[in-house]
Amino acid sequence: MDDAVFYRELPKVELHAHLNGSVSVQTMEKLISQKQHLNIDHSRTAVGKGQSRTLDECFEVFRVIHKLVDTDEDILMVTTDVIKEFAADGVKYLELRSTPREEKATGLTKRSYVETVIKAIHQCKNEGVDIDVRFLVAIDRRNGMEVALETVKLAEEFMLSSGGLVVGIDLSGDPTVGHGKNFLPALERARNSGLKLALHLSEVPSQQEESALLLNLPPDRIGHGTFLHPEMGGSQSLLDKVVQNNIPLELCLTSNVKGQTVPCYSQHHFKYWYQLGHPSVICTDDKGVFCTDLSQEYQLAASTFGLSREAVWTLSQRAIDCCFAEESVKQQLRQTWKSLRPRLFQ
Ligand code: IMP
Ligand code: ZN
Repeated sequence: MDDAVFYRELPKVELHAHLNGSVSVQTMEKLISQKQHLNIDHSRTAVGKGQSRTLDECFEVFRVIHKLVDTDEDILMVTTDVIKEFAADGVKYLELRSTPREEKATGLTKRSYVETVIKAIHQCKNEGVDIDVRFLVAIDRRNGMEVALETVKLAEEFMLSSGGLVVGIDLSGDPTVGHGKNFLPALERARNSGLKLALHLSEVPSQQEESALLLNLPPDRIGHGTFLHPEMGGSQSLLDKVVQNNIPLELCLTSNVKGQTVPCYSQHHFKYWYQLGHPSVICTDDKGVFCTDLSQEYQLAASTFGLSREAVWTLSQRAIDCCFAEESVKQQLRQTWKSLRPRLFQ
């Protein structure tokens, strides 16, 4: 079996995917042609092969995408497209995350935003798309603590009314804006009400103080964690907190290299955490913006760090342990992995 087939057929778990960052070129084409008056060119919605952008420029890309995705119909289309694309890439379990937005001009509200994402998840399930999907409601740090609290309340409501589809909260957005301490009350409330916490942490250097505070919660998973460990300017005490609490890391190679927070693939912190034997999950972050998919990310990790197919298999299987869904879902996923294994290793 050649590599491309192996990595696509490999059953995978995707735990760190921002909805609007995951919109593919094909879906983007539909949006651009529906909204020609916006005069938006493809080059502004993605970072192509061999290109990179500063983190600032990446956040500008999201602003452009948000202009294109601003109605309930758009949310329904991008969510169903994204779910189907992950399924076609061999992803069996997906946790999507997205920041509820309101757009006065189109009638989009934060509530209808979440409702529409949930509707899309149901639609895909009813169509028989072979993937289990959960939703994390995202807090954009740029919007401050009051909005964060509102977001948590909305997530709590949907956690109870969505039949277990809303499972947690994400803290994301431009890491250079605001201080994590402002979000502690909202995050504590979320945790106390049973929502899981997936927090972007130490995505940029010099955030030790913020990371230490947020690690005390502690989060259930860490996004990136690029500068947590001592070799990257972090500290032993941060490392100890992550290790002692066994907090899985969501690691996104291409996103970090194209976003210029990591100089090159071979210096990605995956190596550090993987060698430590710490739960490390390969994810895409923004497959649309960074022009990648989860199969490619696994393949890149394997070729960069010399992982055998057996090691790659174990890596994808261990990701099941880090899902926010209930234990019965994890058991089902383990069964799926077991049944697919012979085909990959015949
Ligand atoms: P959305 O929440 O579905 O609109 O997805 C796009 C949003 O995800 C962006 O506006 C950011 O708030 C967040 N995001 C995507 N990628 C990153 C990242 O690498 N770091 C921090 N936030 C991110
Ligand atoms: Zn992210």
